[in-house]
Amino acid sequence: MPSVSRLTKCASIIILVSTILFASLPVWAQDKVQLSVDASKPGPKIDRNLFGQFAEHLGYGVYEGIWVGPDSRIPNTRGIRNDVVAALKALKVPNVRWPGGCFADEYHWRKGIGARAVTLNPNWGGVIEPNTFGTHEFMDFIDQIGSQAYLSVNVGSGTPQEAAEWLEYLTASQPTTLVKERAANGHPAPYKIPLLGIGNESWDCGGNMTPEYYLRQLTIYSRFVRNYNPAQRDTDQMQKIAVGPGGGEARWTEWTETIMKAWEKRQWSWDMQGLSMHNYTVINWGNKFASVGFGEKEYAQILKETLKMEDLVTKHSAIMDKYDPQKKIALVVDEWGSWYAPSPGSNPGFLVQQNSIRDAILAALNLNIFARHADRVRGSNIAQMINVLQAMIMTDKEKMVLTPTYHVFKMYVPFQDATFIPVTFNAGTYTNGDITLPHVDAIAGKDTSGKLWLELTNVDPNNAVEIETSIAGLNVKSASGETLSAPKVDSVNTFDAPNAVTPKPASVKVQGGKLTIKLDPKSVTVISIS
Ligand code: AHR
Repeated sequence: MPSVSRLTKCASIIILVSTILFASLPVWAQDKVQLSVDASKPGPKIDRNLFGQFAEHLGYGVYEGIWVGPDSRIPNTRGIRNDVVAALKALKVPNVRWPGGCFADEYHWRKGIGARAVTLNPNWGGVIEPNTFGTHEFMDFIDQIGSQAYLSVNVGSGTPQEAAEWLEYLTASQPTTLVKERAANGHPAPYKIPLLGIGNESWDCGGNMTPEYYLRQLTIYSRFVRNYNPAQRDTDQMQKIAVGPGGGEARWTEWTETIMKAWEKRQWSWDMQGLSMHNYTVINWGNKFASVGFGEKEYAQILKETLKMEDLVTKHSAIMDKYDPQKKIALVVDEWGSWYAPSPGSNPGFLVQQNSIRDAILAALNLNIFARHADRVRGSNIAQMINVLQAMIMTDKEKMVLTPTYHVFKMYVPFQDATFIPVTFNAGTYTNGDITLPHVDAIAGKDTSGKLWLELTNVDPNNAVEIETSIAGLNVKSASGETLSAPKVDSVNTFDAPNAVTPKPASVKVQGGKLTIKLDPKSVTVISIS
C-alpha cells in the first residue's frame, strides 16, 4: 500500500506536471478541463482545525468586533454582540486563537479577571486596553459560537509561573485558592483548553530570541504549564504548540531544525504536539498594496505571492520529516492571510483593510494547499477574524457586513474533518503580463457522513471554464452547490451593499452519469455529489 503522504504528493505532482504541459496552450484550448476523482484512494483527514480563526486585542478586532459590553444598545448576550455570534456559528469555527499575536507576549491575565486593570496596548496604536474582555469573556464568547480555545501564553514578558497559574485557574477542579477565585468569578467548573501556544513570534515581537534561547523557554513552559482538567487527562489532551518559522529563508530553516532536532532527542520532562508557522501574503512591507481600487495586475501579483505558501509548507514539512517521520508533530499555520495598506482614514495601528473577491480566491488557494498537506498541516488560523487584516466580518458600530472570505469559509464547512480524496486535472494557465498562474485549482473530500464534495477555483478573472468530471466507481445521479464570484477583481461587500459578493447556486449539469460544472471567472465553487 502506498502511504497516504505519497498519494497526496503524487496528486500534487500530476497537477504541477499538467500545469507545465498546458502552459503553452492558448486560452480557447483551456476552457474545458478534465478532472478525475478517485474515491478509492482516500488520503488523510482534513483536520477541522485547518479552519481556525485568530482574534487579537488589536484595533476593533475584540472591542466592538466581539465585545460591546452588556449596557450597549447593540443587541448582545453578556456583552458579546449577537449578530457576530450568529454569523460565526454558521462557520463552525473549530478554534479561536487569543489573545494575540504580539499582544499575547505583553498580556497579563490577572488584569482581565475580577476588578479590571486599565493598561496600554503598545503594539497596536498605543491605545488604552480596558481589559473588560478577559479570560471569562473569551471563554463565554467561544462557548456562544460553539468553538474551542487556542490560548497563547506570555513567554516574552511573562514568567512560567504566571502561565502555569493561568492554566491552573482555568482547568483545575480541586479546591485550590485559584479554583475558588474562578468559582467566585462565576465559573465553578473547569474550562477545557485544547490548544496552547507557547509564545508568539518569539524571534521578533515576542522577544527577539535566538532559536536556542527560545528552545530553553519552550522546555520550561512545556514542563510547568499544565492542564489539570480531569476531562482532558486521558482523552482530548491539550496540544502544546511551539513557536515555529516565519518564512523560508535560512534563519527560519535553522529555527525549525533547532526545535525539531531537540524534540527528537527530548527527555520525558517536556513535549510538544505542534509547531506553528506564520506567513502573510504581502508585497513590499514598506509600501503595501491597496485592498480595493486595484487592477488585474495587482490581482495576479497577490495571487502569485500567496502560492508561495506551497513551497514554505513543503520546505518546513521536509525538515520536520527528518526528525519526526511519523508526523506526530502538526504544522500549524496559525497566522496567514493578506496584509494590505491600511484603509484610508483608519488608524494605521489598527490594520483595517477591505476584503475583495481577490481575498476569496486567496483563501481558497491557501486552504487547498493546507488540505493537500493534511498529513502534516493539522491546524491553521487566518488573520484575523473581525475588522483586522483578512477578516471574516467587518463592523461599524451597530452595522455588520460579511466579507467574501467569510463566504469561502462557510462554503468549506463540509471539508472540516473530511477525508482527503485525490483529484487529477489539467490546471491550465492564466497569464497576466509576466505572471503565469494555474487557471484552475481543486480539492475533493468525503465528509464524515460519506458524502463527496468538490471545491473548484477559477483563478482567471476574465474567462469561464467548464470542468468535465469523472468519478471512478460512481455513476453521478445528482450534484448541487454554491459559487462565489464578482464582476470586478476588486469587488467588495460594503455596509451599503452587503451582498455584492455573495454565493449563488453553482452551474452544474448531470447527464448520463457525467458531471459538468461551469466556473465563472474569478470564482470559488463547492458542490456535493451523489
Ligand atoms: O496579525 C498581526 C500581527 O502579525 C500579529 O500580532 C503578529 O504575530 C504578526 O506579526
